[in-house]
Amino acid sequence: MRVVSIVTVIGILVVLGLLAHSEKQSFDPKSYYKANCEECHGASAEKRFNPDSPESQMIDSILNGATAEGSRDMPAYSERGIDETKAKALISYMKSFRE
Ligand code: HEC
Repeated sequence: MRVVSIVTVIGILVVLGLLAHSEKQSFDPKSYYKANCEECHGASAEKRFNPDSPESQMIDSILNGATAEGSRDMPAYSERGIDETKAKALISYMKSFRE
């Protein structure tokens, strides 16, 4: 009996560990956008975003920041854990409103 409950506890801990790990790895552009980008670009990316801009330019803006008259500067998100893959996911999310 005792051995069984120890095995059960270890099993539960392993599963919890795996869950925590996968949560850290996955990146959800929707919630990231809402928390970090929406204040300047709007709930449906309707502000300061041209879906026809070249993708390389968009990636550059996200990683290195951007400026425009009449707006606060966009910070460089490469300093905040955004890499090119995540930037592309954010761009797809922003473009999805125009499709
Ligand atoms: C403090 C305001 C601010 C925040 C926060 C912000 N941006 Fe920006 N963003 C700007 C400004 C200003 C520009 C330049 C717009 C222009 O050139 O007309 C810009 C430009 C961009 C562009 C390029 C648009 C184009 O048409 O070339 C993309 C893509 C972009 N932002 C994505 C994001 C994403 C993704 C986030 C969140 C991770 C974010 N922005 C957060 C202000 C912001």
